Amino acid sequence: MKALRRKDLISIFDLAKEEIEGILSLAATLKDKFRKNISYTPLAGKTLAMIFEKPSLRTRVTFEAGMTQLGGHAIFLGPSDINIGVRETAADVAHNLERWVDGIMARTFSHQTVVDLAREASIPVINGLTDRLHPCQVLSDCFTLQEKLGSLAGRKVAFLGDGNNVAHSWIYASARLGINFSIACPRGYEPLPEIVREASAEATSNICVTHDIAEALSDADAVYTDVWASMGQENEAEKRRTVFAPFQLNSAALALARPQALVMHCLPAHRGEEIIDEVLDGPQSIVFDQAENRLHCQKAILTALMANTKRKGKGERRKAKGQVSG
Ligand code: CP
Ligand code: NVA
Repeated sequence: MKALRRKDLISIFDLAKEEIEGILSLAATLKDKFRKNISYTPLAGKTLAMIFEKPSLRTRVTFEAGMTQLGGHAIFLGPSDINIGVRETAADVAHNLERWVDGIMARTFSHQTVVDLAREASIPVINGLTDRLHPCQVLSDCFTLQEKLGSLAGRKVAFLGDGNNVAHSWIYASARLGINFSIACPRGYEPLPEIVREASAEATSNICVTHDIAEALSDADAVYTDVWASMGQENEAEKRRTVFAPFQLNSAALALARPQALVMHCLPAHRGEEIIDEVLDGPQSIVFDQAENRLHCQKAILTALMANTKRKGKGERRKAKGQVSG
């Protein structure tokens, strides 16, 4: 695939439609090679530093295994390892890492931390989830949906629940790929208006925010949900359980979508809260296919951003910085 225009992946909205399609197509190629046990090592000798301020199963394992499979290596840096902003600044972390490794993947609380790392580092920075966005998840979800439905443009994805990071990335992806996206959420838990505005201004599809489940679910090809209390919001969990209860993805809600609508969840799921077992484990569910595809899509992202990079000297490092996004 053609190299991406930006050195980082911070937001899906930074990608052109063709770039997203390139990543999805490369993911399909890499998945095929993986299944056939064909070795493909474009990242031989390269290292990815993975910064995690929050827990992770899927993102950590798929980035780490992905680097190994692409011939490279990944280093896990957990919450107590580098402590960005407390032990040292994001800028200083970036200025160290760029001298040793070839890429950074970061999962942080503040979105600004990932933006700062990307601005300061001359090497690619990948957003592995912030309080604002989860681009790798949603790129992979689009790949899964494309596998299942054959095409994405003109399809409708309905999201039940919190207008948070996953929903935000869905709004951006929908705008870029011509997907109709409708979120039903409780009042006060809407996606950020600026994200809806920005995406809607460029979308050819419909981006809808409603408090009416039936409106959101009507005609939906896929129904998506996410936890009601995200990482870092644990102290709000009890209140949110009450507020979000009418937005549970249960059999009655699913029946409001198209027959055979696909059931999606980024996982981890809080069974019995945002989704019930019968739906999560039911015949319409593709949640474990989504999880499986994180590996292949992550490998496509890593390859697109890191396969053609060269080690840089001081002057070149300066020039490579400053491509800051959202
Ligand atoms: N969906 C997702 O990002 O899972 P983890 O939090 O386990 O990485
Ligand atoms: N919204 C969730 C997504 C987890 C993958 C969170 O931020 O915790």
